[in-house]
Amino acid sequence: MARRKLVYEGKAKILYEGPEPGTLVQYFKDDATAFNAEKKDVIDGKGVLNNRLSEFFMTGLQRIGVPTHFIKRLNMREQLIRQVEIVPLEVIVRNFAAGTMAQRLGLEEGTALPRPIVEFSYKDDSLGDPLVPEEYIIAFGWATQQDLDDIVALALRVNDFMAGVMHGVGIKLVDFKIEVGRVWENDFMRLIVADEISPDSCRLWDIETDRKLDKDVFRRDLGDLNDAYTEVARRLGVLPKSGQPITKPTLIN
Ligand code: C5P
Repeated sequence: MARRKLVYEGKAKILYEGPEPGTLVQYFKDDATAFNAEKKDVIDGKGVLNNRLSEFFMTGLQRIGVPTHFIKRLNMREQLIRQVEIVPLEVIVRNFAAGTMAQRLGLEEGTALPRPIVEFSYKDDSLGDPLVPEEYIIAFGWATQQDLDDIVALALRVNDFMAGVMHGVGIKLVDFKIEVGRVWENDFMRLIVADEISPDSCRLWDIETDRKLDKDVFRRDLGDLNDAYTEVARRLGVLPKSGQPITKPTLIN
């Protein structure tokens, strides 16, 4: 069999050429990085969990009419996705203050925000993904005002869906990041949710205890990252309640 072509390798995922034009295979690695890859580790099984969880969120979004790049899961670590042109922004939605917002404004983590707040960072690792105002985005041509209006609407729909799903399993959606891609359908450009949605890109706190069930467990050395992600997957019914090790292939069909 011919070796498939690598299209892009990022910190947590690899993209390969897909079987049809306009498709890619997205492979989830076990690598965990934080603080712009200053902190790194390999967490056995993380890629398997994120592949499953991203599938769960993306298919749920599609069911309520939010377009995403997800086509189908191929195996434990890979999914088939639509090829998109990534808008070079990290779109962050916050419901509660945490992380860089809490630091920047001197807010206590967990403070409820008056409404969901959408912010943008420019996707550039060498610059540390700096927060950018809309005016920069438009002036530098990364997106138009119309794109930004559509992206904010998309991000808020994702927020409503994710917050509701998480609340249903006793988890508070503190904040999350999505990436958005352009696809062309006939002569029309559409913006769709791309990349991944997983505990790597969200802050998820247990509603009762505020226990962190997301990548902050790794960033802040709060315990076993796989335990946290497995807990999220189990509550969502993505893994069997019996809870066997997620690295066993037989469990993830
Ligand atoms: O670090 P900060 O508080 O700005 O992160 C906000 C949210 O965006 C968090 O859920 C974090 O996991 C996510 N994020 C991400 N990738 C980045 C930066 C932030 O997934 N490069």
